[in-house]
Amino acid sequence: MMQANEYAPEMTERLLERLPYSVVIHDEDRIFYVNRAAENLMGMPRDEILKTPLRQFLLPEDVNSAAQKMENAFFALGQGKVARTEERLVRPDGKTIYVEISGTSVEFAGRPAGLIQLRELTSEREQDEFISIASHELKTPLTSLRLQIQILNKVLKDTESASEAQTRKLLHGAEQQIARLGSLVDQLVDVTKLSVGKLELNRQSHNLVSILKQTIARSEFESKHTDCIVTYNGPDELQGTWDAAKVDQIFTNLLNNALRYGAGKPVSISLRTTERETRSYAEVIFADRGIGIPAASHGLIFEKFEKITGAGKAPGLGLGLYIAREIARHHGGDIQVQSRPGEGSKFTLELPISKR
Ligand SMILES: Nc1ncnc2c1ncn2[C@@H]1O[C@H](COP(=O)(O)OP(=O)(O)OP(=O)(O)O)[C@@H](O)[C@H]1O
Ligand SMILES: [Mg+2]
Repeated sequence: MMQANEYAPEMTERLLERLPYSVVIHDEDRIFYVNRAAENLMGMPRDEILKTPLRQFLLPEDVNSAAQKMENAFFALGQGKVARTEERLVRPDGKTIYVEISGTSVEFAGRPAGLIQLRELTSEREQDEFISIASHELKTPLTSLRLQIQILNKVLKDTESASEAQTRKLLHGAEQQIARLGSLVDQLVDVTKLSVGKLELNRQSHNLVSILKQTIARSEFESKHTDCIVTYNGPDELQGTWDAAKVDQIFTNLLNNALRYGAGKPVSISLRTTERETRSYAEVIFADRGIGIPAASHGLIFEKFEKITGAGKAPGLGLGLYIAREIARHHGGDIQVQSRPGEGSKFTLELPISKR
């Protein structure tokens, strides 16, 4: 075996630093060396990484199984085998990344340690996860639709119990589910268009307030369901040039998010106009008093497929804000977020009033 002191430790460290692979040296509960590639992968400055207990890089539900895997890995190493596992790591911005971990046991500063290499698998796993979420989301309204139509058939056959009110209620439910399926498919179409740069706007003259009021009226079912009272504050009319269907999509997502994550508390929507660099903008604010979003995740929520940890198993593909911001930017506008966990969120949509 080679003696460690045949090499200057600084030299080894310099080499490790330049290595394009992510390398980490750790003991049972802490990391004590991390190279630059690993630092980038983990999305955290080195001194933070060294201060953080190992378990905090994992999702809480993975901690026990990871400990078991580590034990198995050490056993395999003892038998001269390579230890390889896959784990989910949580970055400080709340993004979960999937990594392959392969390692060996070494002695480091006189102590037994694990020398591991991390390889990111996120894009492969994200695709798998996305397909699984998408199929689940598409299946839920389909199942309920099927059920409603089955009952409807029965009700209609059995003329004695075919009360009109019941039939109307079932048809209404079926219509809701079809709308939900339609909007899921629309999201998938939009995201594909965006990724190939083919989202086109059809800008016409419209009253923004009537688009907004239609969105609010359409969400009546959700707002009743979530116990959130929605109020609108602003003028009755704001004429400008917008793609009405696409702007409605932005409104719908911001409002649905406020209802979905709004903890049953009132949601307020307000509209005003602002001037910036000789251009006039419509500013629409959606404010809820719900669960809120940690500051570190404010950028992440606008990314494709991102649903932040802690939001639980809320429905949705995690595409809404990504698509909404893209539509706003195609109009020459943008969406910003201000939010604190436990206090609520405020999303500000800014849209130029006229086309340049
Ligand atoms: N008003 C809000 N309050 C708290 N968290 C929010 C709010 N709006 C969005 N989020 C967080 O941001 C994530 C991304 O939002 P986005 O609208 O892109 O996706 P989604 O609502 O989960 O699904 P989809 O919009 O595709 O149905 C949400 O999963 C949630 O974690
Ligand atoms: Mg959403």
